[in-house]
Amino acid sequence: MTDSITITDNRNGESIEIPIVSGGVDAEEWRKLLPGVWFLDPAFMTTAATTSSITFVDGEAGIMRYRGYPIEQLAAESSYLEVAYLLICGELPDAAQFERWREEITLHTFIHENVRKRFMEGFHHDAHPMGILVSAVAALSTFYPGAKDIDDPERRLLQLVRLIAKMPTLAAGAHRFSVGMPFVFPDNSLGFAENFLSMMWKMAEPRYEADPTLVRALDLLFILHADHEQNCSTTAMRVVGSAHGDPYTSTAAACAALYGPRHGGANEAVIRMLTEIGSLENVPDFIAAVKAGKGRLQGFGHRVYRNFDPRAQIIREAADDVFAVTGKSPLLDIALKLEELALADDYFGSRKLYPNVDFYSGLIYQAMGFPIEMFPVLFAIPRTSGWLSHWLELITEGARIARPRQIYDGPDERKYVPITQR
Ligand code: CMC
Repeated sequence: MTDSITITDNRNGESIEIPIVSGGVDAEEWRKLLPGVWFLDPAFMTTAATTSSITFVDGEAGIMRYRGYPIEQLAAESSYLEVAYLLICGELPDAAQFERWREEITLHTFIHENVRKRFMEGFHHDAHPMGILVSAVAALSTFYPGAKDIDDPERRLLQLVRLIAKMPTLAAGAHRFSVGMPFVFPDNSLGFAENFLSMMWKMAEPRYEADPTLVRALDLLFILHADHEQNCSTTAMRVVGSAHGDPYTSTAAACAALYGPRHGGANEAVIRMLTEIGSLENVPDFIAAVKAGKGRLQGFGHRVYRNFDPRAQIIREAADDVFAVTGKSPLLDIALKLEELALADDYFGSRKLYPNVDFYSGLIYQAMGFPIEMFPVLFAIPRTSGWLSHWLELITEGARIARPRQIYDGPDERKYVPITQR
């Protein structure tokens, strides 16, 4: 069987053969064979924007792997910092490499005092923490002018380490400021997730002691959210990076994309939906309303996963450990009932709608005491390592600048009419 497709141009009856490369049509060949013929594909529904060796997702089979390692194995045995190394460097570190990486990240957790005093504290008192984060990440580029030197591998890596290390500090700082609490400096004797919890919740105690179960659960959520191939924010990262934007401004663009409720805000929508349902007896009516086309079941369905979201299964198991420490979220019973009824209903089954990662993550974050506004911020912390691995991949591969075509559908040429005659 030939790995190609034959297309007949009905305008002139000519047939041409287009090779299939890696399961798809190679645009390079397409251009040669059919010059001037474009695909109109606004949401990239059928366009692969790049090749990538970072994350593999098979939506039909519910498979997700970072650099070839199944997410289930990484979730069970790895840590977020190790996963960040894997994403950026391409291989798991040996013990010495990991120790150096951990030490480097830990050394860079502090932010320049002017980022905090002049910049973050300049926001309005009730500023959204994600708005603060987007701006603060962009501002970092002005503090590290060396970041513009994207061709120097050593300098480049230094910026990536800084960004991964400083995200929790900026994130917790944004929260503290938005609730009028004093900034907490990083405690470099603590691990990555533990240090973040300390910067979030520390009060007058000399050293914040986080519950180890919660530390592990947060680290697990960081592992699961570290990358998800060519999603909206990663695409934003790649587009800005392709113009040779430095890692800080490219990451700020990715953060801005994540701020959108269709992307980083779905777990918040789940909490709002469960709160609106209010009690168990309202669940059947809510499902009936969704089936009648009145709204969507938030946290259900996925563009890629059509049978199950592997991240959702891992999180569901972790949720019980968290609730054993924090007490059960009052919304959990409603969520479980909703899930049970939806999974038994043919409307959802026939459309291949299953719980996604966001169905449970919001419940865990809420039980851990995070305000809803922090949910996208909690997503941005680990996703930074994923974004940066894509940035590094395109810079080292010498990718061309992203510049899609458009199909113009405005007016034909017309004559300018002076304003007095309109
Ligand atoms: N509740 C009810 N019906 C739904 C839902 C839902 N959550 N999702 C899809 N459908 C229906 C939709 O109405 C359509 O039905 P019909 O064929 O009768 O018109 C059919 O299923 C296909 O929907 P679609 O909009 O074409 O699917 P999509 O692949 O474009 O959308 C989605 C994917 C995730 C945007 C969508 O499922 C959705 O809105 N889910 C709720 C929001 C959510 O949970 N988002 C988080 C996704 S996970 C984030 C991540 O991976 O980082």
